[in-house]
Amino acid sequence: RRLKILVCGGGNGAHCMAGVAGSHEEIDVKILSLFEDEAERWSNILKSNFLTVYEPLVNGGHMEISTKPKIVTNDPEKAVEGVDIVFMVVPAFAHSQYLTAIAPFIKPNTLIVGMPGQAGFEFQCINILGQKSSQLAIASFESLPWACRVDDFGKHVQLIGFKDVLGMSVVTGKECNIPFPIVDTIQDIFGKKPAINLVQNYIAINLMAKSIIHPPLMYGTWSNWDGKPVREKPLFYQGVDTKQANFLSKVSDECILTAKKIEKLRNNLKMKDVIHIFDWYKTYYHDEISDNSSLMMAMRTNAAYDGLLHPMKAVEGGFVPDFNYRYTREDIPFGLVVMKGIAELAGVATPTMDEIITWAQNKLGKEYLVNGKLIGKDLKEARAPQSFGFTTLDDLASELSPDSSR
Ligand code: NAI
Repeated sequence: RRLKILVCGGGNGAHCMAGVAGSHEEIDVKILSLFEDEAERWSNILKSNFLTVYEPLVNGGHMEISTKPKIVTNDPEKAVEGVDIVFMVVPAFAHSQYLTAIAPFIKPNTLIVGMPGQAGFEFQCINILGQKSSQLAIASFESLPWACRVDDFGKHVQLIGFKDVLGMSVVTGKECNIPFPIVDTIQDIFGKKPAINLVQNYIAINLMAKSIIHPPLMYGTWSNWDGKPVREKPLFYQGVDTKQANFLSKVSDECILTAKKIEKLRNNLKMKDVIHIFDWYKTYYHDEISDNSSLMMAMRTNAAYDGLLHPMKAVEGGFVPDFNYRYTREDIPFGLVVMKGIAELAGVATPTMDEIITWAQNKLGKEYLVNGKLIGKDLKEARAPQSFGFTTLDDLASELSPDSSR
């Protein structure tokens, strides 16, 4: 039988996912976009155009895959009807809007995939889907499988680079029976790369979310900035220096400390997949990195990052950093704040995360952390366990029992 999938979103990742999945003849692809008039615009474009994914090949050269999604709509009922898998391919701040919209229509035994889930995805799914979540499965990827950019809305997306391996966790509701093999089915959709690494539990995937990368780099670059416009947009990854790499390394250390402590406290929660970000680069981008002598060099020489720039706004005299871009707007409330929350429940101190969150929340005009504690007035808008009322490690482990994952 044909596999029916829904892609939620209308940005870079959604274009790429729709194109990659659509290249399989036996898969029907629908797209749901709730953002402004995106669905209508894309739908009109598809009347006379294909969606094309530009894909570089390992031996040089490239190929292009052209497909036509079945529909692009902003109607959640129509979108979700009959689908086997819902892929959420939007920045994390849009997850609640999509989950709330599809919640009344989603059928039992559907798989919801956060691609990426970003930290706190499972807490939010359970919170919004309520009782229904026991009949659903929730998968979460630690990042997007590709680096990609739309260069012509609705028509053309550039797949800039693949990850070699990508971690995913699955939590299956107690009354849910997904009628297809989850990992194999998603792997078939992706093709060879990235190879899916099934991670034993969702707490591990939360501590592995790649939202830890951007904030330390933003902090390292801009925390002592004099406020004057700069002439050019700096390179984001190729411009990484020792200070930025050091902040990132320390945040990663704090995630590992948290994972080790949780494993010690709860033997059934295996955390071996929570590895240091430097080791992650060496494994996950093995083919793309030309110098892996240090974390800084691995980032600077990762071909998948070629040419990516700091998020900047044009002003008179040059450019200033955009602190509202997803590198902080998404990766603080749906990233570091969640990891900080898990660390807090495990009783692990996180001085570097605290320092970065304190700086970034100020730039965002938000308050999550007060004197090192997650009691800020805007905590409810974030996705820490504490944002949803989980206040002990037992709350985490029992609410989404790893025994029910596969
Ligand atoms: P994007 O920036 O292309 O997403 C834009 C889309 O999000 C819009 O087209 C719209 O559909 C939706 N959107 C934007 N603002 C919205 C709002 N206010 N309300 C509702 N919807 C809104 O995002 P992209 O690049 O597709 O990334 C998706 C996820 O993948 C993010 O979590 C990102 O951090 C992650 N990621 C992306 C990578 C990439 O190369 N694009 C690489 C690694 C991770």
